[in-house]
Amino acid sequence: MKIATKLLRWYRRLGRDLPWRNTRNPYHILVSEVMLQQTQVDRVKLFYNRWLKQFPNWKRLAQASNKEIIHAWAGLGYNRRVLALRHIAQKISEHGVPKTYEEWLILKGIGPYTASAISAFAQKKRILPIDTNIRRVLGRILLGKPFSDPADDKKIQKYTNTFLPLRGAYYDVPQALFDLASITCTKTPNCGQCPLRQNCKSSKLFLSGTVHIPKRTIVASKEHKHRNKSYPDRIYRGRILKVVREKSEVSIQKIGYAIDKTFDPKLDQSWVQSMIQRLSKEGFTKQKKGKISL
Ligand code: ADE
Repeated sequence: MKIATKLLRWYRRLGRDLPWRNTRNPYHILVSEVMLQQTQVDRVKLFYNRWLKQFPNWKRLAQASNKEIIHAWAGLGYNRRVLALRHIAQKISEHGVPKTYEEWLILKGIGPYTASAISAFAQKKRILPIDTNIRRVLGRILLGKPFSDPADDKKIQKYTNTFLPLRGAYYDVPQALFDLASITCTKTPNCGQCPLRQNCKSSKLFLSGTVHIPKRTIVASKEHKHRNKSYPDRIYRGRILKVVREKSEVSIQKIGYAIDKTFDPKLDQSWVQSMIQRLSKEGFTKQKKGKISL
């Protein structure tokens, strides 16, 4: 039996029922893909339908205010994504929906993975989207690498024919791979349960128990941290937005105490100030008379 056939049989039996499957609507698919970029599936499930109710199409999102979108995104994290999503909706409302992978790539905020995901899922293009999960699974199966890296993507793409049927069903194969990545081919894989173990160049190695599983498979991030702070700036920026969201208007002098228990006005005020400046510059917040608001 062909490898893709085995995969799809397994998927029909054990695949997840996720709310963004069974749609070809490019807007719905982009929303799900942007949410899934840095947020776990279970969390995205809580937000996805609610978002589509509030912002059902490109045009409605294009017209939404900062207040609306930042409130609706609260809880998903990595807030820059929501401004990027609205920016894309504005461009598409003006110029129409891109028709090819290359046209999607032109939009700011859309990289090779997202462009290929929308092309495959919404526009029936024969293209294999490779995100970190699919890279891990296919790197193991095809290349025999227990932990692959992005430099392998070209090699993996070469095997597209092994996985994607020549006609139709370009949707199901990557979706099945997402599920395999999340159910059996996890960081420490459960090869005994895998439908593809006989086709996999890494399964023997894993089953022999000799693979060293690194604590960290993702390179430590280079996010900026201010002096003795426990978290990168991203976390404190998120806290500033949360306070502003909840209080509608906050004094710049006081916000440091609200976002950081160890706030020291002498050592930290200019740090807080510069995060506020950046938030304003990026279009999240406004500043007026020593106060910030959405
Ligand atoms: N990760 C990225 N896209 C996904 C999808 N459509 N389903 C599950 N996980 C994903």
